[in-house]
Amino acid sequence: MKKDSCILGIETSCDETAAAVLVNGTELRSNIVSSQIRTHQKYGGVVPEIASREHSVHLIRVIDQALAEAEVGFGSLSAIAVTYGPGLVGSLLVGVAGAKAMAYAAGVPLIGVNHLEGHIYVNFLQHSDLEFPFLALLVSGGHTNLILFKAHSSYEVLGRTRDDAAGEALDKVARTLGLGYPGGPHIQKVAMDGNPTAFDFPRATLEPDSLDFSFSGMKSAVLNTLNSAKMKGIELSTPDLAASFQQAVVDVLVRKTLLALERTGVHTLVLAGGVAANGLLRQSLARELDQRQVRFVYPSPEFCTDNGAMIATAGHYHYLKGDFSPWTLNAIPGLSLS
Ligand code: KG4
Ligand code: ZN
Repeated sequence: MKKDSCILGIETSCDETAAAVLVNGTELRSNIVSSQIRTHQKYGGVVPEIASREHSVHLIRVIDQALAEAEVGFGSLSAIAVTYGPGLVGSLLVGVAGAKAMAYAAGVPLIGVNHLEGHIYVNFLQHSDLEFPFLALLVSGGHTNLILFKAHSSYEVLGRTRDDAAGEALDKVARTLGLGYPGGPHIQKVAMDGNPTAFDFPRATLEPDSLDFSFSGMKSAVLNTLNSAKMKGIELSTPDLAASFQQAVVDVLVRKTLLALERTGVHTLVLAGGVAANGLLRQSLARELDQRQVRFVYPSPEFCTDNGAMIATAGHYHYLKGDFSPWTLNAIPGLSLS
């Protein structure tokens, strides 16, 4: 039976300090994201120590804002959910320590949430009719996974990246092309003026039946193309390079997802993670899945990248099961889904 719940979700695993208040798993009262992107932009990527210090400065302000916007008092919370991994250890520790102190003071349970589970579970917030089983394609800055979800907390990782994550490869190529950080949105924007067939970058499929991914060879192919052109004094088109690389990444993601759907026989695909905001990926999957009568579920762009709502949503389902964390909860930077 469904209990009333009012969950504060806290997210600090990387470079967003975020908090959200979710009532009964469906009513999102607030979702505050304080991004550090501008701080890290000058370094071309996230600097871990700076990220933890920024979380420490902004966490209480962000939580206060989330509670105020939700018009929820500290005493009305049912539980506090917080990301405890995977992510940057210093960043995770700020969120975990903050959540622990608040939950203890409020006398409510603490719920440690796996960040990857949060990315996938935010789909339940936006699609309340989402049913098991489903296949999830999780594509973020740190992860690229194909996961079969059979029920709440019952899942099997079918494929993972063996080197770079899709978002990481997009970020690295963007940096090489002199585009800004984070690279994914910049590649997408610049690619709009480019030709996706201008360069034939390799599509690494690994063994024919493998559901694993590999993006580092594709990334190196861009660097090699750029270097050899430079040596010959040839200037290449950045939009063409961006469009061709984006196309190669999307082709591999789509191909492996279709293979996983064929193998599992499930009829729903859930897309999640920062790269899920990519227009070409969404359009390509939508076209293929429509032909196969597979339901396609994905979050709106603001719920693809890191946010507190995703942690509150996953926290809500843990709350319903009475699945609480001990006060000894610690940050686990390498936490996986399996
Ligand atoms: O999920 P997320 O916010 O953080 C992690 O958990 O890693 O994902 C961030 C990643 C970055 O690599 C970023 O470049 C990528 O998501 N990203 C995109 C887009 N928006 C964000 N990649 C491609 N197209 C986008 N529109
Ligand atoms: Zn994330």
